[in-house]
Amino acid sequence: MFPGGAGVNPFRFGRHYDPDCFIDREREYSQLLNAVQSGNNVVVVAPRRFGKTWLLQKFLAESGFQCIYLDLLSVISLRDLCAKMISRSFELLKLNDPVKFIKEYLKNLSRYVSFSIGTDGVNFTLGKDIDEESILSESYRLLEKLADFLAPLIVCIDEFQAYRMVSEKLPGSIRGFFQTTPNVIFVFSGSMQHMIEELFFQSKGLMYHSGIKLDLSSFLPKEEVINYLVRKFEGSGKHISSSIAERLYEITKGHPYYVQVMGYELWNTCSKEATEEDLREALNQLISRERHTYDMALDVLGQKYVRKVLIMIASNKDIFSIEALREFEIPNPSVANKTVKKLIELGFVEKLSRGNYEIIDPIFEEYILRRFS
Ligand SMILES: Nc1ncnc2c1ncn2[C@@H]1O[C@H](COP(=O)(O)OP(=O)(O)OP(=O)(O)O)[C@@H](O)[C@H]1O
Ligand SMILES: [Mg+2]
Repeated sequence: MFPGGAGVNPFRFGRHYDPDCFIDREREYSQLLNAVQSGNNVVVVAPRRFGKTWLLQKFLAESGFQCIYLDLLSVISLRDLCAKMISRSFELLKLNDPVKFIKEYLKNLSRYVSFSIGTDGVNFTLGKDIDEESILSESYRLLEKLADFLAPLIVCIDEFQAYRMVSEKLPGSIRGFFQTTPNVIFVFSGSMQHMIEELFFQSKGLMYHSGIKLDLSSFLPKEEVINYLVRKFEGSGKHISSSIAERLYEITKGHPYYVQVMGYELWNTCSKEATEEDLREALNQLISRERHTYDMALDVLGQKYVRKVLIMIASNKDIFSIEALREFEIPNPSVANKTVKKLIELGFVEKLSRGNYEIIDPIFEEYILRRFS
């Protein structure tokens, strides 16, 4: 928890979980606990910024389980991943002698491991003169040893959709490992729902049947968000009425990240009491804060018809209707279909029913409407 009180903006967005800023997710959290307690691996899925990392960090901080947390976006190679696994194991064992640790736990790697002592603890690195296969099997052996007396050992791997940047072999190798090691449980988490679904929940997926799905893609509930906003404003020396809090909820739809960022912007904008005008200003601030990210997303999407289809969806048009296709100069329904499929695959759009789609990110949707109309 961060210092707060009167005069300090109480909203938090960033990588570090703050228990005092955590709203709801009770059902999902207890599903996670239950699955792990019963010895099952879990796969947490949701679009970007829906709170996967915060849920994992809450689990790490509060579940009482012995956990190792690894983030695939912050490693550059399989070697680096294994080195991080070793560093986290050392921390978990609460040892203070790295040399003894290497001798006891990494005998076969001892010639290749080095360590440095930094402000964040002891960091291990692995030399280049040993092949990846051996490093990986020794790292698994280390986890197994840990689990002998810290059972069950939970290994949380965040941003799993990025595994290809680490190693194509990772899913198969982890799968082989946990099938023979029941007291090591994995919690995977990833955005790019489409890809995670394919990997874990379709019969052709490399990790099919490897874990229970925990869907975190719902928005936060209205009442809890309103109560949270009122409590945070009051606790920091400002005031927000329930009706303005409700308007903030409507704008953000209860998207976890935007609830925090809009709260943050609104708190900065208003003097003592948040008004409707402050809310409009906060939304402008938020959009200009995010503009760069949205433009980058549009750039990456690049395809000729993407913008048009996004505008159609944002303005609630049936993207397959003859009139809409004519208005937006899209040659035929199959082009619209191909484009929307791509948008779904990349996690920008969700299908509600036939012909009826939604842009998942509510502020991106607002941005599209403002930018292109
Ligand atoms: N349950 C929650 N209650 C309140 N705020 C939340 C909650 N979960 C997440 N947030 C807010 O949303 C932000 C994004 O959450 P988080 O980083 O966990 O998302 P994520 O799904 O891991 O995103 P990414 O896919 O980009 O890694 C957090 O920094 C926090 O501000
Ligand atoms: Mg995350």
